[in-house]
Amino acid sequence: MCGITGYIGYHEATPRLLSMLQKLEYRGYDSAGIAVLDNDEIVVRKMKGPLSVLESALANEKIPGTLGIGHTRWATHGEPSDINAHPHTDISGFIAVVHNGIIENYIKLKNYLQERGVVFRSETDTEVIAHLLNFYYRNGKNRGQNSLLDAALKTLSKLEGSYSLGIIASDFPDRLICARKDNPLIVGLGENENYIASDVPALLPYTRNIHFLNERELAVLYRDHVDLFTESGEKIIREPSSIEWDIKSAEKSGYAHFMLKEINEQDKALSDTLSPRLIKKSNESITINFDEIKLDDSWAEAKKIVITGCGTAYHAGIVGKYIFEHFARIPVEVDIASEYRYRNPLINPNDIFIVMSQSGETADTLAAMRLAKKHGAKILAITNAVGSTLSREADLILYTWAGPEIAVASTKAFTTQLMCLYLLALRLAELRKTIPDREYKRTVRLLVKIPEQARNILVNQEVIQKLASKQFNKNKVFFIGRLFDYAVSLESALKLKEISYTHSEAFAAGELKHGAIALVDKGTLVIAIATQEALFEKIISNIREVSSRGAEVMVITWEGERAFDTVAAEIITIPKTDSSLSPLLSIIPLQLFAYYCAVQKGNDPDKPRNLAKSVTVE
Ligand code: G6P
Repeated sequence: MCGITGYIGYHEATPRLLSMLQKLEYRGYDSAGIAVLDNDEIVVRKMKGPLSVLESALANEKIPGTLGIGHTRWATHGEPSDINAHPHTDISGFIAVVHNGIIENYIKLKNYLQERGVVFRSETDTEVIAHLLNFYYRNGKNRGQNSLLDAALKTLSKLEGSYSLGIIASDFPDRLICARKDNPLIVGLGENENYIASDVPALLPYTRNIHFLNERELAVLYRDHVDLFTESGEKIIREPSSIEWDIKSAEKSGYAHFMLKEINEQDKALSDTLSPRLIKKSNESITINFDEIKLDDSWAEAKKIVITGCGTAYHAGIVGKYIFEHFARIPVEVDIASEYRYRNPLINPNDIFIVMSQSGETADTLAAMRLAKKHGAKILAITNAVGSTLSREADLILYTWAGPEIAVASTKAFTTQLMCLYLLALRLAELRKTIPDREYKRTVRLLVKIPEQARNILVNQEVIQKLASKQFNKNKVFFIGRLFDYAVSLESALKLKEISYTHSEAFAAGELKHGAIALVDKGTLVIAIATQEALFEKIISNIREVSSRGAEVMVITWEGERAFDTVAAEIITIPKTDSSLSPLLSIIPLQLFAYYCAVQKGNDPDKPRNLAKSVTVE
């Protein structure tokens, strides 16, 4: 995944390109670059390393040009290096291109161009685009105003794979061309200036008027207007959208890291996701209102739910399995999206197909959705990104109102995904008549309390910070739990891996004795999540099994619970709710634990090594 920016206006392009790239660094940070048209010449500056390296190099250089493109890279083809960094140009330096995605047929195209004498400099797939553009521009019949657009259309028709692109050319100081397929790209409309970016936060300081490009659309940006086209060259007339996000919500607001800010926003995010979906008749009677998605009878009659996603979204899906089976008594299959299309899945159009993705742009998740759709399945998307590809291709959308999530490791997107799943499961249970009215009402009332209970965990986070400062150096951390607690164990282990680089694994506590217990020794930290009262005796036995083999044990359980006093070295408590709702709360201290361990180790939790926020390649 990479970040793209572009500017055309009357101000210097460089500072704007760089400040927009700062907002997109989460999309890739192994190299960065800009290309600015200055006095009929395209000036390219690009460097290996984080954006700050490029910024320092440019600090003493003045490039007065007012048209440019920028890029922050997450390497796919070719190692991170100055040469492989974007923008890429043709040999004459006439055209410059930034690209996010993968050109699958680039070797074929490269051979074609090399046979015609084109010399390549980098190992990237992107460079073929710059050469192809130049090739079709030089060989095009049309030499008029549309010649660059024609060359772009011709080039796109030759590309297989995925792309969002920003293109400038030295003969055309009045325009910037961009296009997208399978990768996000947004056009920001200003006054006498226009922008492109991969994501909304980059544009917020400049404009809230936005065109979300659809699949296989192009835009030509001039200083005073923007023209939209299909890839077959037909003009599109479309009103821009207006973005409501608060600019503060896309910045750190005084927190040391985006991740800490996002963990701390969970009470609000949960409340924002829950409240609009409730109708309160009295304190006693609150019901779920799902006007935004009409759940017709086919939902009540469905025989199965399939949930798919990647990473954290997949873990939310596993919690979802327990949630739907518990409340709505319907079988649920949870699939890793990157596996789904390769295993010849059985897709029944009558099944409910839930696709979860914070970004709505994860390539594997989109591919799973498209396969299911092709076989007639009706898709319900749960996503945080309005205008994302997932939201535009799904049949029904349930938004998580978490606000922008910038840190790579997902936190508030996870808990808000869970909130959506709870609401959906309860509504489905109501339709399927699998929940007594009293239990339904009681559960909704308990859900209403969750945001405040989340806040109570967050205000006491020093306790977790202290524990992390004692434990951050452990080489091995195992999370154990049963039922809902097992699902939360999976997500907790992922958080710790992602940002603290600690080897951590999750086990269904009852499975320990079937193999994993062989790994337990002195020096292993075992974190037992224990919120399922009916299984307390079982988990206590599991704790004894590991502590008798030398492990140190930390327990997450309910406030006031004494069952673990004599078996655990450390106990972290969370406010009491029903055991079926516990994941909404039990994950929060463990997100904090992972965050503080990462900080203690000197890692940057917002930009963990080797990871990217949304993976738009397979
Ligand atoms: C990447 C991120 C994970 C995220 C996963 C799915 O792997 O590093 O944090 O959970 O993508 O992202 P999505 O946007 O589809 O939820």
